[in-house]
Amino acid sequence: MANNTNLGAAKAAKNDEFYTQYQDIQKEVNAYLEYNPDTFRDKTVLLPCDDPEWSNFTRFFAQNFERLGLKRLISTSYAVESKKYKNYQPTLFETESPRYDEDKTRIKGKIFELTRDTNGNGRIDLDDLEWHYLDGDGDFRSKEVCALRDEADIIVTNPPFSLFREFVAWIVEAGKQFLVIGSQGAAGYKEIFPLIKENRLWYGNGFSAGNAYFGLPNQQIREYASGVYDELTGLVKFRNCCWLTNMEHGRRHEPLRLMTMKDNLRYGKHKDLMEMGYLKYENYDAIDVPYTDAIPDDYDGVMGVPVTFLDKYCPEQFDIIGFGSGYLGQSIGIRGIPHEHKQKMKGHSAAGDLYMMVNGEPKVPYARILIRKRQCSSATESD
Ligand SMILES: C[S@@+](CC[C@H](N)C(=O)[O-])C[C@H]1O[C@@H](n2cnc3c(N)ncnc32)[C@H](O)[C@@H]1O
Repeated sequence: MANNTNLGAAKAAKNDEFYTQYQDIQKEVNAYLEYNPDTFRDKTVLLPCDDPEWSNFTRFFAQNFERLGLKRLISTSYAVESKKYKNYQPTLFETESPRYDEDKTRIKGKIFELTRDTNGNGRIDLDDLEWHYLDGDGDFRSKEVCALRDEADIIVTNPPFSLFREFVAWIVEAGKQFLVIGSQGAAGYKEIFPLIKENRLWYGNGFSAGNAYFGLPNQQIREYASGVYDELTGLVKFRNCCWLTNMEHGRRHEPLRLMTMKDNLRYGKHKDLMEMGYLKYENYDAIDVPYTDAIPDDYDGVMGVPVTFLDKYCPEQFDIIGFGSGYLGQSIGIRGIPHEHKQKMKGHSAAGDLYMMVNGEPKVPYARILIRKRQCSSATESD
């Protein structure tokens, strides 16, 4: 029986061993190729934090090396000793290679590279990958992997969840193009949200129906909390995963189809909204819009919308103004919740949170992205 889990739990457990499925990589990459068939042409692609012998990232990019028009593919892995694997067995691929080294296999990372037709069969593909041990353990922060990052044009991976902020900073500081898997909640991180606001990072095309399934190393199935993976498929399902990127794809430029405020209140599908109307925040000049599909297309002021809006964000349709709670709330000038209201909100201490009054009681909404309709935009359509 399949059960859901989320990246937060995996991160808390410092569990980083989740392997991305081939079809998810293929579907995502195809979205960039549909927008621009030359997205990867003549580019050096680095796949760090990978496990090239197992990884579908390496498999996909190597098999599609010629179709994508790549110049060079580099994939690096992290040493098993650093991962703290208990039942590690090197693969036959490694042990049967003349490069195999009994001492290095546990403590060194590996690098796989593809640039040319090594076996002379007239194609550049998976069989032409060349490999050797790295000097260190393959940590993405090490000098040698940083040097590979600097040589790359595009960085693609599913990074360790427990080091996600550090990993994104590592890419951004080098000014590289990237396509990585992360958690939807990352939008609220103080390191990530400014990148979203400045249009330097956005959601990718996305997993099928928002469901992301990952493989696990064998011994981990038993160690991981029971009930979070599907015994039949051997896959774990995450409900809050997304692709994050700074590369263009078509879905990002499709505006949301929205109704006017009046039509939302008359014909909308959200009863609570139809009953209460669009509430104004008490401490910030904006209205609360609790559902992305209820964003009124004729409202010119600032609106607080759910974080899931980011998956539908079209930069030609809306500007992102800020994040409506905590640290970032304060940075856009949200006044704190007055003392008399705070007393009614047991345990509430985030001084910068938005709040509104509902039936005479103060209420803090879930995290909100503050947006405003782009001026002179002809992108929206009303029904
Ligand atoms: C979420 S898994 C993804 C693996 C692979 N990229 C995939 O999607 O199939 C992240 C990988 O990063 C590795 N890792 C953890 N810390 C790392 C570090 N500091 N540097 C490099 N890799 C690391 C983990 O051992 C794990 O194999």
